[in-house]
Parts: sequence; C-alpha cells; structure tokens
Amino acid sequence: MTPEQIYFELIPAVRAMISGDYPNITNFTYKDSLNFFPESVNNHLEWKKNHEKIISFYIEETGDIAQILNEIRIFSQTLTVAQKSMPVWIYLKSYGLIHSLGLPDLSLKDDDGQVFGKTWDRLLGRLAFKVVMVTGGAQGFGAGIAASAFEQGAHVVIADMNREKGEELVEKYNAGNHPNKMIFVQADISNSESVKDLMLETVKTFGGLDILISNAGVLRAGGLDELSEADFDFVTKVNYKGFYLCTKYASKLMKAQNREQKIWFSDIIQVNSKSGLQGSNRNFAYAGSKFGGLGLVQSFALELVEDRIKVNAVCPGNFFDGPLWSDPENGLFVQYLRAGKVEGAKTLEDVRSFYESKVPMKRGVTVDDVMTAIYYAIEQKYETGQAIPVTGGQVMR
Ligand SMILES: NC(=O)c1ccc[n+]([C@@H]2O[C@H](COP(=O)([O-])OP(=O)(O)OC[C@H]3O[C@@H](n4cnc5c(N)ncnc54)[C@H](O)[C@@H]3O)[C@@H](O)[C@H]2O)c1
Repeated sequence: MTPEQIYFELIPAVRAMISGDYPNITNFTYKDSLNFFPESVNNHLEWKKNHEKIISFYIEETGDIAQILNEIRIFSQTLTVAQKSMPVWIYLKSYGLIHSLGLPDLSLKDDDGQVFGKTWDRLLGRLAFKVVMVTGGAQGFGAGIAASAFEQGAHVVIADMNREKGEELVEKYNAGNHPNKMIFVQADISNSESVKDLMLETVKTFGGLDILISNAGVLRAGGLDELSEADFDFVTKVNYKGFYLCTKYASKLMKAQNREQKIWFSDIIQVNSKSGLQGSNRNFAYAGSKFGGLGLVQSFALELVEDRIKVNAVCPGNFFDGPLWSDPENGLFVQYLRAGKVEGAKTLEDVRSFYESKVPMKRGVTVDDVMTAIYYAIEQKYETGQAIPVTGGQVMR
C-alpha cells in the first residue's frame, strides 16, 4: 500500500466503518514509529490480555487494500454502537496501527460520579464531531465560518496561505476546554500538490473530511483596458481552478467514507458571490470566475450525487464589515473615497451609505446571514447543484 492509498482510501473508510452515533477521529501510525508492535496473531492476543479497555484486531494478510477493508468491514459489523464510541485499534501486519480514539465521555454524572444520562445532542452542536475544512479561513468570511462551525461542535481545518492569522485563530479557539479541535494547515488552493498535502494533513489529524467550505477567493477589479492578463490569470487560478482542485481531492476522502456508511451525506459548499449570478461592471475577471464556479458546482453535483456528496453554493452580497471593504489601509471604502468613485462622498461613511442604499434591505451581508444559508445546505437532504442567494434582495432570480 502506498501512503496515498493509506490516507486517501483506507483511513477515511475505516473511520466511517467504526463510527457510531458520531464520527470518530481515526489515525494511522507506521510500525517504525511505535514502541511496540505485535508480530503475530498470538503476540497480539498476549497484548490484548493487558489492554481490556481497547477493542483491538490484528490483520495478518495485508497485501491487498480491498482485502484489508473487507476484513475490517466484517470486524466492524460485530461492534455495537457503544463499542464504536470506545478506542478501537487495528494492527496491520508489516504496516502499522490504525487507531480510532473513541468519543469523549458524553455521560452526565451527579456529584458522586453516578451516571444519570447522556449530554443532549443539541448541546453538542449542529455539527458535532464532523470534520469541516474552511479554505481561506484565516480572515473575513472564512474566519467567521470556521468560528461558527467550531462553536457548533465541529473539528475544523483552517486552510490558508496566511500562517500568522491562521495560527492565531487556532490558538484562540483551542484555548478553551472543548471536546473538538481546530488546526491550521498552510496551503495554496491553486496548487495541486499543496491541496493534496492539505487533505493528507487533514486525514493524519482527524481521519477524514465531512464538509468542505471552499471559501478562499481573490478579487482584482478593472475594465478591459486596465486589467492585466496576469491579474486575469491570478483570479481564475484561485477562484475557479482552486475550487476544482479542492473538490477533486476532498471528494476522494468523502467517497471512501460514504461507501462504508450508507446513511452519511457529505457536503461541498462553494462561497460564491452575487457576482456569480449577475455580471459586474469592470470586474469581469472576478464575475467570470464566480459564474464558472457555478458551472463547476452544477457539474460536480451531478457527478457526485451517487456518492451522497451534495455540492451547492452560497452567493453573498457585499460584506461591508469584512476586510475587503473595511480594511483601513486598502479596503474598498478607502479606495473608492480616494478615487472619488462615489459622487459627492466626503467620508468613508458616505461611501458605505451609497453602497448600502443599493441593497433593498439597506445593509450589507453578515457572517450570520451566510451561515444560515450554509446550515440549510448542510442540513437539508433534497437539494444539490444549487446557488443560494444571500443578497438582501439585491439579486432576484
Ligand atoms: N467580501 C465580500 O464582500 C464578498 C462578497 C461575496 C462573496 N465573497 C467571497 O467570499 C470569499 C471570502 O471573501 P473575503 O471577503 O472574506 O476575503 P478575504 O480577502 O478577507 O479573505 C480571503 C482569505 O483567503 C486566503 N487566500 C487567498 N488566496 C488563497 C489561496 N490561493 N490559497 C489559500 N488561501 C487563500 C487569504 O489569505 C485570506 O485569508 C471569497 O470567495 C469571495 O469571493 C466576498
């Protein structure tokens, strides 16, 4: 087995097989990195006697991945849901150890330590223990989406080029006493090797992926006589090709999982834009990349529906409170004020009011508005290939 087979096919499949009510974190450790590794079935049985709190299994024939999966499938069918919440270790002779960590203790105990119930599902959050990846999650919409998913109980992967901001967020969210975890992976989503590494890191930490929020995006505005070809290529590469690359590798993990858990759905959600629904004057590179994104959404939705992967887009209007508009140095409000783009505007507030007045609901979009659409896309089970507008009525379809 190649490392690619281990991390893209085996581990996500095993994670799905040995998850009960909630997805488990599942890891793999190569034999060489372990202090102890049983060299035979008998050796494993000896070890098992002293490790009763761990459910374990030893596979001797490890030549063929399909055969390994088959053995683990049969073994997992013997486990009850309660056992699937416990640590499960699977030794693969010649390779290493697959270990599912089990779930944190969800029981409710009285002062004497007596169990009287289980933490209510709703207290665990809407995304309890799901693995959610947010590209471009270090700032702007992405940071808000990552925060909301984390608060709703998900394990979160922030994938961004900006290490400083990404690590800052991860430190902040992991500081509390949460049963879920956030990690940062530095990645350039327009580069296929980087995206592949991103997925590998995700599997190495969590064992799989349930929801991809493809949010990273860039904007270079300008008319036909101003915008350079290099800028056009840059926007296309991040916004259009980047979404293709993330979907290509994320869907491999999701397919491997969903083949084993016939009731699981996975979601790929692109953060598109109102500029993907309606042309944008002197902003064609961006609008073109976003229109193209919806072509990809619809096509991927058709291709992946058999694997129970829904693919949808949310199309927000302008996020005036985000850095793109409000950055004090380079934000669009400052740029438009300096360039005199809004007639009669003397202050940043004048520029903002001008743009807000174009929205029927008279305000810009917020992260909460976008999350309402994202949770709808995730929780419903009868739509795929859709572009959900979140524009305060600015774009009507
Ligand atoms: N800001 C708005 O008004 C608005 C409106 C509608 C849609 N959107 C869309 O929402 C998404 C997020 O926008 P935002 O305003 O929060 O942007 P932002 O510029 O504030 O943040 C984008 C993040 O993406 C990261 N990023 C950029 N290129 C990357 C790459 N190649 N690989 C990995 N990470 C990369 C950046 O480092 C940054 O952290 C974009 O897709 C954008 O098109 C934004």
